[in-house]
Parts: sequence; C-alpha cells; structure tokens
Amino acid sequence: MSVETTRAGAAIDRERIAELTERQKQIFRERTARSGEYFERALKVMPNGVPSSFQSNDPWPVYIERGEGARVWDVDGNEYADFHNGFGVMCIGHANPRVAAAVKARIDHGTHFAAPTEGSIIVAEELQRRFGLPQWRFTNSGTESTLGAFHLARGATGRDLMLKIEGSYHGHHDAAMVSVYPPLEALGERDDPISVPYGAGYPRALTELTRAVPFNDAEALQRVLEKLDGEIAGLIMEPAMMNINIIPPRAGYLERVRELTDAHGVKLIFDEVKTGATISPGGATGRFGVVPDIVTLAKATCGGYPGGAIGMTAELAALVADDTVHQYGTFNGNPLVMAAAEATLTEVLTEDAYEVLEDTNETLKAACAEIIERYRLPAYTEGIGAKGCVIFSPERIYEYRDYLTKVDGELSTLAWLYHMNHGIFMTPGVEEEWTLSIAHSADDVQRYLAAFETFAREVTAAG
Ligand SMILES: Cc1ncc(COP(=O)(O)O)c(C=O)c1O
Repeated sequence: MSVETTRAGAAIDRERIAELTERQKQIFRERTARSGEYFERALKVMPNGVPSSFQSNDPWPVYIERGEGARVWDVDGNEYADFHNGFGVMCIGHANPRVAAAVKARIDHGTHFAAPTEGSIIVAEELQRRFGLPQWRFTNSGTESTLGAFHLARGATGRDLMLKIEGSYHGHHDAAMVSVYPPLEALGERDDPISVPYGAGYPRALTELTRAVPFNDAEALQRVLEKLDGEIAGLIMEPAMMNINIIPPRAGYLERVRELTDAHGVKLIFDEVKTGATISPGGATGRFGVVPDIVTLAKATCGGYPGGAIGMTAELAALVADDTVHQYGTFNGNPLVMAAAEATLTEVLTEDAYEVLEDTNETLKAACAEIIERYRLPAYTEGIGAKGCVIFSPERIYEYRDYLTKVDGELSTLAWLYHMNHGIFMTPGVEEEWTLSIAHSADDVQRYLAAFETFAREVTAAG
C-alpha cells in the first residue's frame, strides 16, 4: 500500500484514491447516462462533442438543459447547485429576471445595427466610473479584448515583444497562446523561461515574441525589463491569477509592477476577464488600488451575453480615435449585449451585491477550511469576492511552478467527481475555482459543504 503522510498530517493512501476515483466515475457514468448519449451524437458533428475545447470532460461533458438562480439541471434531470457558473460568468444567477426584462425590452426594437446605441454610452460611463480608466471600447469575448490590448501596447510603443506571466491564459489568439500550461520539462530556467506554444497552429516567429515571467516576483520582472530595455511593448497579467486555482498578489507586488513598467515605458495590461465584475465593483483594479494602462473585460460583465470591453488611458484612446491602432468588430456594442450589461452593472451587481457575494464566499471558505482541518487534508482555501477554491497543496502556492509541482491532481479530480455526484456543478479540471452568484443561498453553501465533507471523510477513512 502506498501511503504518504503530508505536511498537513493526514495519511493519503494512493490506492484508496484510485479505488474511490473508479467508484465515483462509475456513479458519474450512471447518473449522466443521457449526457453519454448526447455525447455519442455530438461526436459526429463537433470535435470532442463540444462547442469549445474547454467544455470537454472525461468520460463525457454534462449537457445542460436549463438553469434558474443558483441551480442548473442536466439532460438526465439531475439538479445541481451551480458553482461552475458558466466559467465565472453568471454572478447574476441564471435567468435573472432583471437582466431578462432588459433584454426582452430591447429585443422588439431591433437587435443589431452595427451603429452605436445609447446602451454603449451608458455601459462605457459605468465602466469608467468603476475602473477609473477614461475610455472604453467593446468586443465580443475575452479573447478579443486581450487581442485588442496587445495591439494597443505594440501600437503605442512601436515595440514587438510582449511579456506575460508564466502559466496564465489570456484567450486563444496567437500572441497569447504562449506558456499557458507548459509542462515541467519544457519550462527552462525560472529567470529565463522558454516561450512554449500552447498547442499547434501558431507561427514560431510569433511565439517567440511573447516572453514569460514568474508571477509574484517583481525582482525577476525587473531583471527582464533591464535586460530587454526598450524592446518590450507591454506586460499582460491577471492581477490575481485565476487560471491555476487562485493565487492572490503578494503585498506590494502590483505596486512594484506598476513602477517598473512605468520606468521602462511598458504598457501594463490587467486582464480582468475573470476578476473584472466578480471581485469588486472595480474588479482587481479597484480592489488592489493599482491602475494599469489597459483593462480587459468579458465574462461576468455582460450578464451571460457574449460581450467584452477594453478600458484604456486617454493617450491610448487617441491612437484608436485617429485609426493608428484599428479596433473593429461588427457586433461590438451589440444592443442586446449592452442591455444585458447595463442591467447587470447598474441594477444587479451593485455595491451591496458585492458585499453579499463576499460574505457568502467567506462563509464557504471558512467552513471548507474547518473540514480541511478536521480531516487533516493536504489543502487550503483561497478566494476573493465571488471566487474561491480549495487548493490541494500542503503549502501555499505563489506561481505556476508551485502549481505544477505542489498541487495534487488526483485529489483535485476526485473532489470534482464527489461534487458532481452530490449535486454540485463544478468546473472540470484541476485548475479551476468556484464562482458564486447573488442567488446562492445558505442551502447551496450547505450542499457544497456536505459534498466536500463526504469526500474528505471517505478519502481519509482507513481501509
Ligand atoms: C483571464 C482570461 N482572459 C481571457 C480569457 C478568454 O476569454 P474568452 O473565453 O471569452 O475568449 C479567459 C477565459 O477563460 C480568461 O480566463
């Protein structure tokens, strides 16, 4: 029997994990048999049977039929409390009546003109108020937002190189698909990481124009900026990493990043696709008090509709205004998306709503921490605003290399199976987190905790 004693103390029996994983997978297959049938059908028309590869899952994705508030129902009729929340989009809760009313009110008056409507002005005004950046443009996704940000940084500086944080995801355009989840053996030196393309299809010449630096290490950033002085256009980063569980910035790190990028004439981009509408009214920018040159938004900002936005300084906006940097899109500022965004930002995700999200999150995190302690699991909780997670690592992680070497993938996968089989809809994958909505009640939190405790009890039980 292979038993490890972790720093946190509990004996982790690898054979038991394997056995429980097999058992839970079998339960999962039985509970979601209809999804299995949909999967067979979908395989004939979509690679992996899904519209986007992030929706893939082993043995198959759970096909969803409907959602209401904090609950979703799959095609087998299973009801779940939804902690996946559309990859962190549905902070307003499913089928939110206010957002639905706003969209319905718009829908009978024409849904698309490719000419500006008042809605785009209202949403841009609200984003200006929230984030403190003066000028905004709209997009249709997070990928488009970060693509526009790369163009702005390069266009403003006339430089080609871009910096990103190792192990971060910023959408799937060529320049961003570098060092996203590089394998351990491909990383290279921590101080000089190799630019690793994330999959095939990107010209090598472009991959090399994006360089990675470790998160939470301003000195490493300083060394790169000094070495490549005058060559770097921009640094794109999530101010709190949210694609390898959640890693908050160390105290003083973001302030130092701002100073260093300013000193080297490098445009600082905060990719707030995940954090923007979920961790405070002004996202991470508001929460941490460091203002970048560019903010990119999408996900929760438009209340479940496919929209995004780019916030920028007046200097950068001038480049867009005079067409030095082209920012385009037929559907940008689509009236339905703007109606949803306006209702989301001005009626639903109000200051009070963020307080409720934070309180619910703190309750959930504290109760998870108590279970971790009681069962002496090698894990800890992390979270900000509406976002949180249990990280299966015996010690804190501060950057991607910690995530790769310290997070226990087997425990993470098993916890996911327990959640799914106990009525908690969770993001598949080791690296994701929960997102709360304003519809999450004490009951939903209790349901999550009951599933997590069952997992903790069974995984640490002897024999
Ligand atoms: C931080 C971050 N940036 C950009 C994106 C890309 O957004 P989208 O999937 O809307 O293109 C994502 C998606 O998960 C993200 O997490």
